[in-house]
Amino acid sequence: MNNKTLIKDEIVNIERIAPNILSFSKKHIFNNLINKSIEIIIVPKSEDLTANQKNVGIIIDENLIFKILSQHYKNVLITEIKTKKDLAKMALRKPDLVFSGVKYFYFNEKKIWLNDYLELNDILYIASSKSTLLKESNKSRAKKIMQKLNIATADFFTTEPNEHKNKNSIPITFPLFVKPITGGDSRGIDVNSIVYNYEDFKKKVLDIKLNQHSRCIVEKYLPGKEYSVGIFKDNMDGNIEAMPIEIIVKKNINGHHILDFDTKKNDEEKVVEVLDKKIFKQLCIIAKKSFVALDGKSFGRIDIKMDCLGNPHFIEANLMPGIRKGYFFRSCLLNLGINYEEMILKITANGLH
Ligand SMILES: Nc1ncnc2c1ncn2[C@@H]1O[C@H](COP(=O)(O)OP(=O)(O)O)[C@@H](O)[C@H]1O
Ligand SMILES: [Mg+2]
Repeated sequence: MNNKTLIKDEIVNIERIAPNILSFSKKHIFNNLINKSIEIIIVPKSEDLTANQKNVGIIIDENLIFKILSQHYKNVLITEIKTKKDLAKMALRKPDLVFSGVKYFYFNEKKIWLNDYLELNDILYIASSKSTLLKESNKSRAKKIMQKLNIATADFFTTEPNEHKNKNSIPITFPLFVKPITGGDSRGIDVNSIVYNYEDFKKKVLDIKLNQHSRCIVEKYLPGKEYSVGIFKDNMDGNIEAMPIEIIVKKNINGHHILDFDTKKNDEEKVVEVLDKKIFKQLCIIAKKSFVALDGKSFGRIDIKMDCLGNPHFIEANLMPGIRKGYFFRSCLLNLGINYEEMILKITANGLH
C-alpha cells in the first residue's frame, strides 16, 4: 500500500467519525481551500450609525466574515454596491454564493430585491426569498398565514389614528398590546404598549403614527414567558433543526415582562437554555411549523410568547435574523455548542447547496 492510499483510507475513516475534523484536516494536510467563490455584498453605511437602514435585514461585520471565509474558501471578496452597474458587474462575476444581509437596493427610486436578482442570475444566497421576506416583515400578513394553518397566535386587528373611533369599535377585549405593523429591534415598544382601556389605546396608536410613521397591529396581550427559536433548514435534505432559548426580561414599572426598546438597546435581557423538556418540544414544534408556513429557507428565528395558560403563541418571524452576537447566535451557542466562526461556516456551507 503506498502513502497516498493510506491517507485516502484515513480520510474515509475520519469522514465517518467526524466530518468537521475532516474539513479541518483536508485544509491543513493539503493546504487545500475549498474551491468556491463567495462575494460578501454590502451597501454604503448610513452616516448616522444608529439609523435604521430598512433595506438591510442583517447587519454584518464584513471584515470578520471575510476573515473567517477566506480561511476556508479559495475566492472571497467584499463588494460595496452603490449603483445598478455594480450589481450587474457582480452578476457577471457569477460567484458561487452571495453572503449578504441586504434585502433590497434603491436605484433611481426603484427597488431591486437582492435575492430576486440573484435568483434571476442563478446565484445562490444565504437567506429566504423575496416573497418570504415580504410575508414575514408584515406582522399581520404573517399572523394570517398562521391562523389559516391553526398555528396559535394572539387574536389581532390593525389600525391607525381615527380608524377605531370609540371603545365599542374595538373587536378584542382588553388588555391589548399595541405595536408597529412592521419593524424590528422592539422599535416603538415601551411601557405604554400594554393598554387596558380605549384612552390608552388611542394614545399609543397616535404615538406609533407620530414617532414610527407606521400603522399598528393590536394583539391580545400575552402575559407569559418569552422565547425565541433559532432555525436551521438543511437545503440538501430539507431537515429542520430548532434551537429554542428563553429570553428573561426584568419587570417594568407596571410589573410586566416586555422586551421593549430600551431593554433591547441596553442589552438588559438574559438569554438562557430551555431546560423543561415539554416546553422545549412545544417550542420546536410551533417554530418549525411557522418557519415552514412562511416558506422559510436556510435559517431564521421565530419569536414566541406564552399566554396566561402557558401555551406558546407565534409572535413574529425574523427570516433575516441578526447574526452578530444576538439571539440567533446565542440559540446556536446554547443548543449546538458551536462558536461564531462555526455558525458562519454552517450558514455558508448550507447556502452553497
Ligand atoms: N401580543 C403580545 N403580548 C405581549 N407582549 C408582546 C406581544 N407582542 C409583542 N410583545 C412584546 O414586544 C416585543 C417586541 O415585539 P415583536 O413583535 O417581536 O417586535 P420586533 O419586531 O420589534 O422584535 C416582544 O419581544 C414581546 O416582549
Ligand atoms: Mg421580535
